[in-house]
Amino acid sequence: MPVSNIPDSMRLDRLLSQVTGLSRNHVKSLLRGDNVEVDGVTVRDAALQVNATQAITLREDAVEWPRERYVMLNKPAGYVCSTAEGAYPLVASLVDAPWADGLHSAGRLDADSTGLVLLTNDGQWSHALTSPRRQCVKSYVVTVKHPLQPGVVKRFAEGLMLNGEREPTLPAQLELIDTHTARVQICEGRYHQVKRMIAACSNRVVTLHREAIGHLVLDAALNPGEWRELTPEEISGV
Ligand code: URA
Repeated sequence: MPVSNIPDSMRLDRLLSQVTGLSRNHVKSLLRGDNVEVDGVTVRDAALQVNATQAITLREDAVEWPRERYVMLNKPAGYVCSTAEGAYPLVASLVDAPWADGLHSAGRLDADSTGLVLLTNDGQWSHALTSPRRQCVKSYVVTVKHPLQPGVVKRFAEGLMLNGEREPTLPAQLELIDTHTARVQICEGRYHQVKRMIAACSNRVVTLHREAIGHLVLDAALNPGEWRELTPEEISGV
């Protein structure tokens, strides 16, 4: 398992806000109302430094120290894999849990692409998964505008020169499903890579759906917009 990157100590108001999803101001009013105890003593000081060994309660309910979270999401079109607000809503906004705020995506999917996105607050885990040295295989189902020519299989396998790049793509797999649909497997993560590889073959991507990242396969029970936490086996397989 990766080494933890959750701090061992933090301000009490930050802890309570992270765990409950409430704003710092709301947490401060709870503190002023004598709702919080640390090791059996009522505490009002929002700035108090607390650590993972202490018994903390909010309205007599035990407060669990934050932990690493690992989520698989079936991303619908129209969401971005970013942590900065922009024109589209963020993928993390689909995760309706109080701890969702600290999540980032391990690798990206374009706003108009759909399918498997992995979200975590564990930077070492996401780095291990997405590091170019690892050459983790990503699998996509792609539909295209024009009929796929048989020659594309060979061109993907040989590597393609993409516009504005110095090195050809690493060997990739393209399996024809029907005239306009293919399964594509790549082990790099260049910008808009699949779309640009298809464009280099004089065609155009209409839809792009990610099925798998390495050993992690999108759960068929997840409808677009739905998520679940990864199992311990899924997490440690990375
Ligand atoms: N390749 C693309 O072109 N877009 C994605 O979102 C992922 C891979």
